Amino acid sequence: VAEEGMAEFQARIDRDEFIEPKDWMPEGYRKTLIRQMSQHAHSEIVGMHPEGNWVTRAPTLKRKLILIAKIQDEAGHGLYLYSAAETLGVSREELVRQLHAGEAKYSTIFNYPTMNWADVGAVGWLVDGAAITNQIPLCRCSYGPYARAMTRVCKEESFHQRQGYEALLEMMKGTDEQKKMVQDAFDRLFWPALMMFGPPDSDSAHSSQNMAWKIKRFSNDELRQRFVDATIPQAEFLGLKIPEQIKWNEETGHYDFGELDWDEFWDVVKGNGISNDDRMNARNEALEDGAWVREAAAAYAEKQRAKSKA
Ligand code: ACO
Repeated sequence: VAEEGMAEFQARIDRDEFIEPKDWMPEGYRKTLIRQMSQHAHSEIVGMHPEGNWVTRAPTLKRKLILIAKIQDEAGHGLYLYSAAETLGVSREELVRQLHAGEAKYSTIFNYPTMNWADVGAVGWLVDGAAITNQIPLCRCSYGPYARAMTRVCKEESFHQRQGYEALLEMMKGTDEQKKMVQDAFDRLFWPALMMFGPPDSDSAHSSQNMAWKIKRFSNDELRQRFVDATIPQAEFLGLKIPEQIKWNEETGHYDFGELDWDEFWDVVKGNGISNDDRMNARNEALEDGAWVREAAAAYAEKQRAKSKA
């Protein structure tokens, strides 16, 4: 019976049907989705920190409004994704507990600091740009609630990407110092942004099964290449100096970009990045600082319940 169920499940995937929460699914499918969707949700939540640091220092009121709106969007994405993960039978409290206990992964990119205002633009352009490249195929992922969440998330990410690029375009019309800041942000954040797509295909433990289940539609390396090909012309348009190892390859019709520093990647995954501790401390402090709000809300709800019974 289990084998028949598995064959029917795969047949549904092969017919490009969506799998819905109450449908039968293999345990492995449920597990890998909880893993990926919760890591994704945590990334959205932790991703608010590097940008949140700049709300009080945004150069104009307009930039501040855009930044606040964008950060709120990221919070919304996180909550959306936790809800989608809950349809698989795990609670949001448990997922959040795992994050705060340091047991859960979130994207390596958010363990790099934002050092100057250009970094905020570069986060929009490069980090959200990479996120969209990875997430557009997820709109066709086989699990219905995840795919539908991604449709809305991608629309918002597209605004995030453009506001970041526009902020950098503006800086590139400015002083030499501003131009230097943009170049510096690009030089530091471009490579970590490429690592957002995950390890090389040869080291990607989950890829082959998740491609068969159509959770993944393209491999880590394919999407990374797609992002490089789209981003280098944008960097040129900005007037940035492109790293020497990046070269257009006439034969393949793609940019060659050499090897990434995968030791650095795994080191950051393990928690040894520049900002890992800061991010976790900030989350745990926020949890403590917000305890009175949760208690007050629960007490108020209890009071209302008692009143309505009376
Ligand atoms: N940062 C941290 N961990 C990573 C990263 C990364 N950039 N890339 C891969 N890993 C982890 C995987 O989670 C996996 O660990 P696990 O087995 O403990 O769960 C391990 O490295 C091996 O990687 P893969 O086998 O390639 O994992 P997977 O098939 O899940 O592919 C990918 C990784 C591409 C990130 C996939 O999970 C995905 O598409 N996730 C959804 C998108 C997402 O999470 N985006 C977050 C950043 S975007 C944003 O928040 C704005």
